[in-house]
Amino acid sequence: MTEPETREKQVVVVTGAASGIGAGIARHAHARGMAVILADIDTTALDRLAADLGGAALTCATDVADSGSVHALADLAYDSFGRVDLLFNNAGIMRAGFLWQLGESDWDAALGVNVTGVVNGIRAFVPRMIDQGGGRVVNTASVGGFAPGPMMSPYSASKFAVVAITECLQMELSMVGAPVSASVLAPGPVITSVFDNPFGAVSHPAVDRMVAQMRELLGSDGLDADTFAELVFAGIDRGDFWIAPQGEHLDAMVRQHTATILERREPVIRQSFR
Ligand SMILES: NC(=O)c1ccc[n+]([C@@H]2O[C@H](COP(=O)([O-])OP(=O)(O)OC[C@H]3O[C@@H](n4cnc5c(N)ncnc54)[C@H](O)[C@@H]3O)[C@@H](O)[C@H]2O)c1
Repeated sequence: MTEPETREKQVVVVTGAASGIGAGIARHAHARGMAVILADIDTTALDRLAADLGGAALTCATDVADSGSVHALADLAYDSFGRVDLLFNNAGIMRAGFLWQLGESDWDAALGVNVTGVVNGIRAFVPRMIDQGGGRVVNTASVGGFAPGPMMSPYSASKFAVVAITECLQMELSMVGAPVSASVLAPGPVITSVFDNPFGAVSHPAVDRMVAQMRELLGSDGLDADTFAELVFAGIDRGDFWIAPQGEHLDAMVRQHTATILERREPVIRQSFR
C-alpha cells in the first residue's frame, strides 16, 4: 500500500468494493486519478483488487452492518486524506425464498447490510462532508426498489427502503442548505455474483422458472461492471439524483408498479423486465 500523493485528488470511498459493481466503480475512480478507499467484509478479494490497482488504493476491512466498523472506515478516510468527495454505499446482499419460510437470520442479514449499512454510511460520513463543504453520497438501490419481486421480499423491502432513505436525505440536505448531495443508484441487470445462488436450497418449479428468467435477462441485458461504472460516473458528472444507467429497466418497473396501485389491481408477477 502506498501513501496518497496529494490532497488535491478527489477522494472516493466504496463499500462492497471487493467484487462486482463496487469493484467496477473502484477501478473507474482509480483510472480517473481519484484516491480510492476500498471497503469490504471479504478481505481476500479486497487485497486482490488493491493489488490489481497497483497498490495505489487504501483498503479497510469493513462490515457495513456494524456502525463502529463504518465509523472506523470514515476515520481512516479522513485521517488519510482529510476529506471524502464521493461515498458509495454499495455493499448489498440477496436473501430470497418464500416469505413464510425465510428465517429471522435472512431478514437480519438483508436488512442489516442493505438498509442499516446505508444508514451507517450516512451517519459516519455526512456530518464530515457538511463540515468540509461538499460531497456526494451514492446509495445503491436497484430497479427492484421500485417494484417488488416475488421470492425476494427481504431484498425488495431493503431496496425500497434505500430509495426512500436517499430521497429523505436529499430533501433534508436541501432543507438546511447543506453543500452535500445524494444520489439513488438503481442498477438493472449487471453481471456479478449477487444472483449466483439466490434461492439456496429452495426447490419449486416456480422458482426454477424465475431463476431461468433472471439468467436469461442477465445474458441478454446484463452489463459488465466496468461499462456500468462508466455510466455511473457519467450520471455523477451531470449531478443526477436518479442514476439509472439502464433507464428502460427502471421505467418499466415504475410504470408497472404505479399502474397497479393507481388502478387498484392486485400485484402481478412480472412477465418481462422491460
Ligand atoms: N448485479 C446486479 O444485477 C444488481 C442489480 C441491482 C442492484 N444491485 C446492487 O448492487 C450492489 C453491489 O452488488 P453486486 O451485484 O456487485 O454484488 P457482489 O456480490 O458482486 O458484490 C457485493 C459486495 O458486497 C460485499 N459485502 C457483503 N456484505 C458486506 C458487509 N456486511 N460489509 C461490507 N461489504 C459486504 C461482498 O463481499 C461483495 O464484495 C448491491 O447493493 C446490489 O444489491 C446489483
